[in-house]
Amino acid sequence: MPIRAAVIGTGAISRGQHLPSLAALGNLVEVVAVADVNEESARSTAEEFGIPAVYPDIHALLAAEKPDLVTLATPPIAHKEAAIAALDAGAWVLSEKPPTLSLAEYDEIAAHEGENGPYASYIFQHRFGSAAVRLRELIANGALGRPLVARCDTLWYRDPAYFAVPWRGKWATEGGGPTMGHGIHQLDMLMSLLGEWTDVSAVMSTLARETDTEDVSMASVRFASGAMCSITNSLLSPRETSHVRIDFERATVEVEHLYGYDNSHWTWTPAPGVPADEAASWLPDDDVSSDSHTPQFAQLVDSMHRGERPIASGDDGRRIMELAAGMYKSALKGRSVARDELSPGDPFYASMAGSDPEDATARIHAGTIRSARPETAHA
Ligand SMILES: NC(=O)c1ccc[n+]([C@@H]2O[C@H](COP(=O)([O-])OP(=O)(O)OC[C@H]3O[C@@H](n4cnc5c(N)ncnc54)[C@H](O)[C@@H]3O)[C@@H](O)[C@H]2O)c1
Repeated sequence: MPIRAAVIGTGAISRGQHLPSLAALGNLVEVVAVADVNEESARSTAEEFGIPAVYPDIHALLAAEKPDLVTLATPPIAHKEAAIAALDAGAWVLSEKPPTLSLAEYDEIAAHEGENGPYASYIFQHRFGSAAVRLRELIANGALGRPLVARCDTLWYRDPAYFAVPWRGKWATEGGGPTMGHGIHQLDMLMSLLGEWTDVSAVMSTLARETDTEDVSMASVRFASGAMCSITNSLLSPRETSHVRIDFERATVEVEHLYGYDNSHWTWTPAPGVPADEAASWLPDDDVSSDSHTPQFAQLVDSMHRGERPIASGDDGRRIMELAAGMYKSALKGRSVARDELSPGDPFYASMAGSDPEDATARIHAGTIRSARPETAHA
């Protein structure tokens, strides 16, 4: 029996990834319905992908269709309500990134999961390319030695028109800037490789775009293993690149790509003294690229059949939300933040902007080129 799936949201990522990825799973999945508050978008998407039913919202869809799986391709502000409604109706959930607006929302969703499912999981497609999968194995079996030094740079360019979409660039609807919306892909991949982090120091600014949230963030993070990592997330970088580099005791492993990688984007440099045949054995056997959601969708279907918690859910999906909250708290408070501070009761548990989003905006705008511009004009 195919899994009966429904897709909420029929915008760019729904049409570009969710529906093609579900179709790529062949007879493992049948897409029974889509929902969108924009009924015209829902209708034309259903026509294009041959989907039989269309609804204006998730509640009507759940009541009528009782799907096994719901995928969420809506803006971040809409993830929590839909995820909870789907879990309560017995459906597994695969939501777009960022998982939620806050750690509090993340935990609220998790409280609606069942003991053996349904579970909520989150899309982080860069974990699923062959090279990242292979690297995780090599780290786990100690082949590369201890991780020591890392860099994680997401240097992208988004012009002012990109922010005309009303939900972008605002704490209340997107949750944050490139830390939450763009760098989160590579940061999540890094966390899946390096594991638990312990403390972070960050700075953020809004240098050039008309956003409430930051358009650039930088941070230094320490991991429980002792490894240290520097992070840059930017939306202001005309030569765009995505770069992760990890120096282990026995090798430097790095990937440079833009929005997705295959094996050709990775460089594996053995340390002096590592035998060449051993270094050759590190390389992945297959070459699954990370530019599609299909590998993650396929693994989720597998988890559903086995009744097991999928990758990028529970604590494994939460780690990146904690790091984002830690980065915002550090940048806004002007001090280093320990991971265990971010518990219920902390303002940054409830919102990436802390207790006062307007003050958060004023702080990351303060002293930047953007805030200085009017004075410069008078001078
Ligand atoms: N994984 C990736 O590589 C990737 C890439 C781009 C965007 N995204 C994420 O995907 C999500 C959607 O982004 P997008 O670019 O497709 O946005 P979009 O604006 O193109 O599409 C969002 C759609 O959701 C609909 N919608 C909004 N609220 C709704 C609700 N409550 N119920 C039903 N439908 C609703 C809108 O009408 C719209 O059609 C965001 O969370 C974004 O961060 C992920």
